[in-house]
This record gives sequence, structure tokens and C-alpha cells, in this order.
Amino acid sequence: MTHREEIDGAWPLNVSTAAPAEHRFEADESQPMRPSSLERIREVDWNFSDRAVQSELERIHPYPAKFIPELPGTLLDHFNLPSGVAVLDPFVGSGTTLVECQRRGIQSVGVDLNPIACLISRVKTSLIPQGISSSLAQIVDRGIRRSRSTAPPIPNLDHWFTEPVKRALANLTDEIAATPATHRDIVNLGLSSIIVRVSRQDSDTRYAAVDNDISFDQVFKLFEGAVSRIIAALESRTYPLTRADVIEKDTLALTPGDVSLPVGAIITSPPYPNAYEYWLYHKYRMWWLGLDPISVKQNEIGARAHFFKTNRHTAAHFEGQMRKAFATFATLLIPDAYAAFVMGRSKIHGEIVDNARTIKMVGKEFGFAMSFEAERTISAARKSFNLSHANIKTESVIVLRRSRT
Ligand SMILES: C[S@@+](CC[C@H](N)C(=O)[O-])C[C@H]1O[C@@H](n2cnc3c(N)ncnc32)[C@H](O)[C@@H]1O
Repeated sequence: MTHREEIDGAWPLNVSTAAPAEHRFEADESQPMRPSSLERIREVDWNFSDRAVQSELERIHPYPAKFIPELPGTLLDHFNLPSGVAVLDPFVGSGTTLVECQRRGIQSVGVDLNPIACLISRVKTSLIPQGISSSLAQIVDRGIRRSRSTAPPIPNLDHWFTEPVKRALANLTDEIAATPATHRDIVNLGLSSIIVRVSRQDSDTRYAAVDNDISFDQVFKLFEGAVSRIIAALESRTYPLTRADVIEKDTLALTPGDVSLPVGAIITSPPYPNAYEYWLYHKYRMWWLGLDPISVKQNEIGARAHFFKTNRHTAAHFEGQMRKAFATFATLLIPDAYAAFVMGRSKIHGEIVDNARTIKMVGKEFGFAMSFEAERTISAARKSFNLSHANIKTESVIVLRRSRT
């Protein structure tokens, strides 16, 4: 079975089971206490040492520090969620939690302020719009023949992009803008996925300009290949597409009104302070897609740039940010709900800071008690330069449980 269906068509499984607005955040006291479903969680090998290779779906677009699917998947398998509730990932990144929820027929809500994260999450969890292949062919065909489009005003454009690549990307973005709105996410994701490859940037994580002789025509070939691979990955999904809402917003500004499903659990991996720079990683992708990386940078929790300045952030900033986040979590979650965090240490101004400890401490202030904790090894591929530099090798899986009152 493929999921190439009409976006508004009669696919019966992408069902919305949102609670009526007046019931959204009420505790359902009739819900029985869940059995202590975490009993067997201690037997889990959190390193997932026998993990298979990445699936096509995981690989549709690069994203730093993403979950391996087994992490949210195993947590979901132990949570024994009451029916009708959704799982919230307030730092959803590339949507791994949402995909694992869909695989299990569980509704989900993902929040991220990074528009590339939201784009990836939406594409991974949505139907394939009908007619996407002909739109792709048309974009490529017209884009190649198009008389020269103007590149958007991107800082340092000439440093990072050669003349033929600039022309090809400008033509592609103009053709994408003319394609039906329901097709744009997939083609924009394909375009986003090739930006670093066609630029003069050495790699996704190395910001040095190197020679690049990619031709005008090659950009179109790479784009077509990327979009085709995304479509094939989406076609390989063999499960019904349960509702997955993606909210592009600063989680610290999230209000209960933003979330239209009752939240039965949180599974997330918050940003590590002073470790990654998601906005920087996706900076040129955002510029080319007409998005603004600078506003993302300003509100990105933990972005390294915030730790360089004179008036610089400290571990206390992260604590304050988590306090704000927990105030919202406490409003959204039903009683007894589990909230799982995968979180490790950071190096801030020369000192190693235990972020998991912060999560536990702040959680306690908001009525979240410790249920389970394990330590896992961070795979070398997931480690940021900063974590490797600070010799940080492990992270914690923490499961908190919200009290009934
Ligand atoms: C560790 S990553 C999450 C990766 C995710 N688990 C996955 O599988 O792809 C942390 C995410 O937090 C997001 N983030 C940082 N500050 C944020 C904020 N203020 N509001 C919402 N999201 C934020 C980043 O954009 C990043 O996607």
C-alpha cells in the first residue's frame, strides 16, 4: 500500500480526533491510574547497540542531533498511553517522535521554532499530494529553460555560491513559487536538502569555502534526485498516517490555545546549551527558501552564539528557559502523564554543566517526580564539535511523571 493520496481526498486514516475545545486541557479523572507500565523499562539497552541502518525516511534531510527512532519508540512502547491523547515533542527537530507515534497509531504534536525542522516534520508525517511527480517534472523542465531569475538578497551570496549555481537555484525557487501550494513542502524540502551540496561550503558541519564546479544543469539533476528520493521514502510508509500537528513557534511562547489535542505524554530532546547551532546549520537553506535565520537564532535555546557575547548566557539562563517551558508543560499535560527527556551535559565557560540535573530540579518545582533514569552513549555521529571537545560521551534518558494534583 502506498500513501500517494489526494491531500483533501477520502483517505480514512489521517483522522482528526481532537477533543472539543472545552475539554482540551481538563484532567480526565475517570481515567484509571495506569498500571506501572515502566516496570520493564529497566531491561532496555538504551544504546540500541544492535540498531539497523537508518531508514529512507530518516535520511530525507540532514538534521543535527536527531533522535535515533528507537529512543522515542521504546519510550512510547512503555508508556501505555490512554486512548485519545497525543504525545507532545516541544523541540521536535526532524520529527522523529511524530513518526514513531504514527507508526503506533498515536496522535502527536511537534513544536519547533526552526522552519526547516517544521518542514521536515510536516513532510515526514503527511500524505503525498496527488500530482507531485508531474509538478516536479514541470519545475525542472521550466526551471532549466527559464530566462534568468534574480537571486534573493542573501548575505555573502557570492562567497558561498558560484554563478551557475545561483542562477539554477533562483530559477528553481521561482518555479517552486508557481507550483500548487500543496506540492511546495516536498519540493522545498528537496531543494533545502541540496543547498549545502551545491554551495561552496565544505560540508554540513564545516563552514569553510572550497572550490566547486557544479554546473547549472547538475543543480537540476541533484534537485530532481532529492525530491524523487523523498517521494520514494514517503511511499515506503506502511502505516496509517495518524494525525500529527506541527507548530512553528518558540516553545517558550507556546500557549494552551496553540495545542488542540489533549497531551498524554511528552517525549523530547531539548537543545543542549552551547553545543549545537541549528539556525547556523540551516542558515543558507532558510535564506534560499525565503525564511529568516536571524530571527531563529535570536530565540534558539542554547545556540552557541549566545555564549560568546559580553552579556553572555550562563547555565542559569537554561534553567530559566526550562522553568518557562515546564510552566506550559504543567498546563498541557493530563495528570499522571509521563514526560521523557533525553539530555546530557554541556561545557559552558569552561565548566561542565549537567543539564539533566536541571531538568529534574525544575520538573520537581512543577510537580513532576522522577520515575526512571538511564545513561546512554552518544554516538560519535551525533556529537557536536563542542561535545567532543569537552569529552562528553553520554547523555541521560529521564522519565518524570506528573503528579495527579
Ligand atoms: C536536540 S534537537 C531535537 C532533535 C529531535 N529530537 C529529532 O529527532 O530531530 C533540539 C531542537 O530544539 C529546537 N529549539 C531550540 N530552541 C527552541 C525554542 N525556543 N523553541 C522551539 N524549539 C527550539 C531546535 O531548533 C532543535 O530542532
